[in-house]
Amino acid sequence: MSAPNTVVPPPAPEISAAAAFPEGAQGHHELPAFPSGFDAQADELVTHYPVSKRSASLPLLHLWQETFGYISPAGIEWIAGKLELQPINILELVTFYPMFREHPIGRIQIKVCRTLSCALAGSYALCDHFQKKCGTAEPDAHGIATSPDKKYSVEFVECIASCGTAPVIMIDDDFHENVTTARADELLAKYTA
Ligand code: FES
Repeated sequence: MSAPNTVVPPPAPEISAAAAFPEGAQGHHELPAFPSGFDAQADELVTHYPVSKRSASLPLLHLWQETFGYISPAGIEWIAGKLELQPINILELVTFYPMFREHPIGRIQIKVCRTLSCALAGSYALCDHFQKKCGTAEPDAHGIATSPDKKYSVEFVECIASCGTAPVIMIDDDFHENVTTARADELLAKYTA
């Protein structure tokens, strides 16, 4: 894990556009099964942007990631097709914004705040502790470290608005404050029980 003053290079694209989209706008990756209402929900989002459908790119990427867990090449092609764009127009957003993921991550998602109050309260050591306990691999280009069995992913996030109770973490949608390494072990036991 990087020290607080380490300069982290910007994320590099993990998918070569030429390799992922040799047919240009014509999608060739198999789509996953859509949950009921998914297509209609996407269409409804697009209606929010009557002047330029392109503006729906980020909302559709969020919808896809919330539904399928990560942005696959099939998802990039599907969103591009819906917005009458080229896949590369969507891919460049996925590789630019760190909140988008290009691979499946862990079923249990641990997010450790690394902003000033939490960093001073030991969040870097805490993140290291979680990574060791969860047996994660090195973080990917988006800063997410995932265990080989895809059970856990651990990543840093920026301030999650509880600086007075640092260090603060989230596990899935649950918020935890004043997290020591001992508390981290208790939490892991609880979430994996
Ligand atoms: S600095 Fe961590 S919650 Fe604000």
